Parts: sequence; structure tokens; C-alpha cells
Amino acid sequence: MALLSGNAATAADKIDLIIDTDPGADDVVALLLAMASPDELNIRAITTVAGNVRLDKTSRNARLAREWAGRTDIPIYAGAPRPLLRTPIYAANIHGAEGLPGVPVHEPTLGLAEGNAVNYLVDTLRKAKPHSITLAMLGPQTNLALALIQAPEITQGLKEVIVMGGAHFNGGNITPVAEFNLFADPEAAEVVLGSGVKLTYVPLDVTHKILTSEARLQQIAGLDNRAGQLVGDILNEYVKADMLHYGLPGGPVHDASVIAYLLQPELFSGREIHMSVDSREGPTFGQTIADWYGTLKQPANVLWIENGDAQGFFDLLTERLKRLP
Ligand code: BDR
Ligand code: CA
Repeated sequence: MALLSGNAATAADKIDLIIDTDPGADDVVALLLAMASPDELNIRAITTVAGNVRLDKTSRNARLAREWAGRTDIPIYAGAPRPLLRTPIYAANIHGAEGLPGVPVHEPTLGLAEGNAVNYLVDTLRKAKPHSITLAMLGPQTNLALALIQAPEITQGLKEVIVMGGAHFNGGNITPVAEFNLFADPEAAEVVLGSGVKLTYVPLDVTHKILTSEARLQQIAGLDNRAGQLVGDILNEYVKADMLHYGLPGGPVHDASVIAYLLQPELFSGREIHMSVDSREGPTFGQTIADWYGTLKQPANVLWIENGDAQGFFDLLTERLKRLP
């Protein structure tokens, strides 16, 4: 009896999580961090979307991450092959032609789950206990937008949605003002914003403060396991383009901050603000308008994360990767 109630308490404390992702170098690091954290995260599924590269490659890379983490218990559903309305864009210039720089890729043994990510989201969130499921969105928000258009009532199952995306103080990374995930599908982000679900944004403002360094890459690559070696090799290659472009001493690992925020929110700080997304054609397409000072006198609709503890993040990442094969 004591054992049963002990287990129940532990299960209740865990975050019931779906990760929606477009791997992507930093997505793979995020997935490994999440899959190495079973005490805190109950990963129900990984859903994939086109983004950094085509859907077949993002889905293959998600399956590679699962294989590397030894977490064949987690189903992976492929979702939308293109954005809601706009022409697809990719980021092979940053993530390489395969979407995974610095390491060789292969066809993983285990395939995709049968069915589609959008249907999976609709079915799962419809049946879920009220406000019980957390969704980590690490790419364009197309899958969730399609699910919400089809079945708006599924917000009932969502506890919160944590988005890697947007930029305010930092400026953009795909245009001077737009961040890639929002630029890749701004209409999808608008659907999610309009759904009323509890939203946290982890924008470039914070991810560009959590940079690699020689020492931080060393602490990862120096781990005596495959995961440390892989993440060391991936990051070593991935950060080069950003370091060159921005003249930074290290590179950001954007998506992994979403998982770190779930595991150790005390590493981060932000403010509840009103934000919107510009989906009009023109130079500000995909820009997030983050009303940090409340100038518009609109009710807050997101928690906008603005700061993070960089060394705390890399210590957490290193400690978790150490647990993997
Ligand atoms: C975001 O864009 C993608 O290239 C990364 O994977 C991350 O999700 C950063 O702007
Ligand atoms: Ca991503």
C-alpha cells in the first residue's frame, strides 16, 4: 500500500509532455535532454513538423535522437509537411543538408508510429484530463494550429504550451526582426495565440544569452558516453555559423532552453506581457510584437522569458547527458 501511494505521488508530480519539433541540431539536443529526464518528464509522444529541413528528415532525426537516448518506448508521429499558408522555408544553411550537422546520419531501426501528428494531438488532448498536458513547441507551430482549427475544444486538455520562438530585444535571426520558427509559419502562431491556451515564449532574447564556450563544450564532449560525444560534435559544428554571423563568443542552443525551463524554471525569468505576430507581407513579416512595457494597455497573453542562467543551463545539460548511453 505504501509503495502504491508513493508511486502515485511521483507520477502526479511528473510533467505529462508532448514535444513538437523540427530536428534540427538544437532540437536533437533538446530531445536528448528531455529523454534523459524521466524522473520529471513523462514524454507521451514526439510529433514532427517540417521546419529546419523537410518533414522526412526532421522525422528521421527525431527517430535518431530516440535511438541515441535508448527511449524506444516513446512514439513519434509525423505531422505537417508544410506551413498553413506561406511557401515553405528551411534552414539547411545553419543545420546542414540533413538537418543534423557534425555527425553522420543513418536510418534508425525503429519507424514512425502509425497515424498523423495532428490527429494524435486532437485525439490525445480531447481525451486528456482537464489541463493536464504540457506541449513543448520547438519548431513552426503548424501541427498544433491544424489541430486547433479542426477541434478548438482540445484546449481543454492543455495545461500549457511552451514555445521556442520570437524575438524582441535581440532582433531576428532570419530577417532583421523575425525569428525562424515564427517566420516559418506566422499564421500558425496566430492560431495558437488566439486559442487562449496558457503560453510561455522562450525567444532569442534569452537563448542568445545562453551561449556555448570552449569550456562548456568540453564538459559535454568530455563525458564518457556516446551522448556526450554526439552532442559535443553536433554543437561544435552548429554554433559556427551563429558565432560568425553575430560575432558572438559562443552559439545558442535555442530549443534545449524550453526543456531546461520545464526541468528547472528557477534558471529563467521573464514577464507576463501582451504579444502579437505580424503575418502581413513586408519587411516585418513574422516579427513578434512584444509589449514589454505595457504601452498598448492590452491584457497579457504570454509569459515572455527574457533571462536565463547560462552556466546553470550547461551544468544541467551535462549532468543529464551523462545519464544516457
Ligand atoms: C529556432 O529555429 C530553428 O532553426 C531552431 O531549431 C530553433 O527552433 C531558432 O530560431
Ligand atoms: Ca527547432
